[in-house]
Amino acid sequence: MNNRIFLSPPHMGGNELAYIQEAFESNYIAPLGHNVDVFESQIKEYTGAKYALALTSGTAAIHLALRVLGIKDGDEVMASTFTFIGSVAPILYERCTPFFIDSDAASWNLDPNLLEEELAHRAATGKKQPKALIVTHLYGQCADIKRLAALCEHYGVYLIEDAAESLGATYEGKQSGTFGKMGVYSFNGNKIITTSGGGMLVSDDEKLIAHARHLSTQAREAAPHYEHIEFGYNYRMSNIVAGIGRGQMEVLDQRIQRRREIYERYHRALASIEGIAFMPELPNSVGNRWLTTLMLPESIAPEQVRLALERDNIESRPLWKPMHAQPLFQGAQNRLNGISDTLFQHGICLPSGSSLSDETVDRIVSRLKELIH
Ligand SMILES: Cc1ncc(COP(=O)(O)O)c(C=O)c1O
Repeated sequence: MNNRIFLSPPHMGGNELAYIQEAFESNYIAPLGHNVDVFESQIKEYTGAKYALALTSGTAAIHLALRVLGIKDGDEVMASTFTFIGSVAPILYERCTPFFIDSDAASWNLDPNLLEEELAHRAATGKKQPKALIVTHLYGQCADIKRLAALCEHYGVYLIEDAAESLGATYEGKQSGTFGKMGVYSFNGNKIITTSGGGMLVSDDEKLIAHARHLSTQAREAAPHYEHIEFGYNYRMSNIVAGIGRGQMEVLDQRIQRRREIYERYHRALASIEGIAFMPELPNSVGNRWLTTLMLPESIAPEQVRLALERDNIESRPLWKPMHAQPLFQGAQNRLNGISDTLFQHGICLPSGSSLSDETVDRIVSRLKELIH
């Protein structure tokens, strides 16, 4: 198992253990402490978001975004269909109704034309608008976020950006996660930087983050006897985990650079093969290329490729199965164009960890060429 090539393994920078050690020395083995404060400051400084809240996961961050925006009980929430379940499970936690929107070919992310059609149709027919839109910047590549933000603004829909996979990706120089009312990052074990598990909720709205902070620690009022007016959650990030995040932030730019180099290497070697199409990058945007993803020629079954790579101890993965096709969301409303179904049918994610050597990428490329030719 030792020489297994993983899809996206953790890649420590070197200082993480020292920050954990610091937590031990101060005995702040708790969901608060210096590492948590520093990690939040680093995220604010890096992304330009005014306020940040460190949490146990990205999913928890999305859940709190819905809670503090007052979205609940039958409210409708639109979302990317081409995403990971953590994006949209919180819609169900709050007993809301999901409405899924397909991707476009230009970004593989939420199609602004479909969104506009749906919102304009509702405006014209007097149908209620959704309360919020959760847009995912998938695989580290930016959605057409400026246009999506303008549509949300125009129709009075809260924009929540799921930037779980896209920390460091920019659109016109502005960080993904900072265009909407609230943004979410994940530090799950396979992300571009990791804390083993964790998330961050960001916003320029001080009150929203203050409320989320309150809810993340069981909504305790400031009374010695633990007074409760509303219910919260145990969602706050541990000071140990935040120590890992602190060290990881110091190397984030290097990690992005290496992921982009790995993408370029795959691209140079494979892009000319007929029928192959890599996940695009919108003009004016720079993704973090968290995972290199591509569509295989129609005659090749991605599952056969995945299994063949697996026999060589190389981990790959199908593209996400769209939410509208999940049994969990059977019957949910949607606006589709077939793109995410096609991506799921023909796409594959390749090993993309920033610790991959050029030689290993070349070995994967050679194997792929044998399988695809
Ligand atoms: C697009 C997307 N949304 C949400 C999440 C949820 O993040 P977490 O695993 O930290 O809960 C993830 C990652 O796991 C993700 O990839």
